[in-house]
Amino acid sequence: MATLSSRMAKMADTSYVCKELFEYITDPEVIKLNIGSPASEVIPIDIIREITNDVITKEKRGLEALGYGPILGVESLRQTIVKDLLRPKGVEVSPDNIIITTGGIEGINMAMQICTNKGDTVLVEAPTFIQAAQIFDMFEVNMVSVDMDEDGMRVDDLEKKIIEHNPKVIYVIPTFQNPSGRTLILERRKKVAELASKYDIFVIEDDPYRDIRFTGEDLAPIKAFDKTGHVILCNSFSKIFTPGVRLGYTVASDEIIKHLWNVKMATNSHTSMFPQVICDEFFKRGYYPEHHKMICDIYRERCQAICDGIDTYFPKGSKRTNPEGGLFIWVELPEGIDTAEVQLEAKTRADVKVVYVTGEKSFIYSENDKPITNTLRLAFGASSPEKIMEGCRRLGTFFKEKLNQE
Ligand SMILES: Cc1ncc(COP(=O)(O)O)c(C=O)c1O
Repeated sequence: MATLSSRMAKMADTSYVCKELFEYITDPEVIKLNIGSPASEVIPIDIIREITNDVITKEKRGLEALGYGPILGVESLRQTIVKDLLRPKGVEVSPDNIIITTGGIEGINMAMQICTNKGDTVLVEAPTFIQAAQIFDMFEVNMVSVDMDEDGMRVDDLEKKIIEHNPKVIYVIPTFQNPSGRTLILERRKKVAELASKYDIFVIEDDPYRDIRFTGEDLAPIKAFDKTGHVILCNSFSKIFTPGVRLGYTVASDEIIKHLWNVKMATNSHTSMFPQVICDEFFKRGYYPEHHKMICDIYRERCQAICDGIDTYFPKGSKRTNPEGGLFIWVELPEGIDTAEVQLEAKTRADVKVVYVTGEKSFIYSENDKPITNTLRLAFGASSPEKIMEGCRRLGTFFKEKLNQE
C-alpha cells in the first residue's frame, strides 16, 4: 500500500482509547459507567417527533430544512444562542460571531485548523479529554500538560509552561471538566484570558457541560473576559438537546470567524440544515427551560448516587472529585492497582461486569514522568441511580480484592 500520512501513526495510540469509549455493549448485565452519553430519559423524543412532523408538512420550513443553507448556520438559531445561551452568561456577541458546527468536536477541529501548524505546542489540562488529544495528534502538534487542582487548571503552572514552551494554543474545558468533573474558578477564568492576551496565544475553550449545573454558582465562560479576540469558545447541543443531531456552535471574534467560515466552506459547506431547523424550533417553541430543568434534576440525582456509591463501597484511601454539574467524576484509588490492567477483568467477570474509563490515557506525559495508573473516570449520566449504586458496589468490591483490602 502507498505510504499513509504521518498523522495516522500519531493518531494510532489515542484512537485505541477512543474506540474503547464508543464500544457498543449489548450485554444487559454490564453496567456502563464509561461513556458520557445522556440518559435516554432526557432525550426529548416526543417533542422532536412533533417538531419534525410540523417542519416537514410546512412548505417553507420544510424546504429550508432540506435545502442548502448559510455557511454560518441557520440565522434564527444563532440569534437564539446569543439570547438564551450566551448573553445570560455574560458573553456579548452578535449572531455573526457564531458558526454552527457538526457537534462540538468539529468546532475544536476547525479552531485547530486555523490556529496551528505541525510541530506547534498546545497546552492541555492534566488530565484532558481523550478525543481532543486525538484531534491534536491529527494536527501533529505537541501536547504539554498543565497541572490541575480542585479549582481547575493551575494558572501559575500555566504561565510557567507558556514561558517554557511558547505554545500556540491553550485548550481548556473550564466547567465540569471531562474527565475530572472539576470546574475552573472565576479568578482563574479571568487570568486565562489575561495570559492569552499578554502572551498572544489562542484559547480553545471547550464548554459542553456548562449548562448542566445542578448545584453551586453559575460562572461566566473565559470568553466573557476576552478583550482581544484570543478566545474561541466551542460548545455543543449534545448534552442539552440530544447528541444524534450532531450540533454544536463556535463563538469567535470578527477576524477569527472569517477564517472559520473558510474552513467550514472547504470542509462540508455548512452543518446539516435538518437538525438545525429542528433545534431552532425546539428553542422557539419554548421547550428548553423545562427540558433544561429536567436534565439537571436527573443528573443531580445520579451524581449524588455515584458520590454515595464511591464513598460507601470503594477501597479505603480512595479519593474522588466533587462535581457540581456535568456527567463525570474522577477517582484516584490507593496506590498498588493499575486500572488499565484490571479493566478487561472488570468488564467480563460474572460478578463484576462494569465498564469504566482508565485514567492513565487522559494524561499527557513528558519524557521522565511516571504514568499515573491508579485513576479512573466514571460517567453517571446514562444509568439509573440504582444501577450506579450497584455498579459502585461491584467495582468497589473488585478493587478491594485487587488491593487485598477487606
Ligand atoms: C470535553 C468535550 N468536548 C467536546 C465534546 C463534543 O461533543 P459533541 O461532538 O457530541 O458535540 C465532548 C463530548 O463528549 C466533550 O466531553
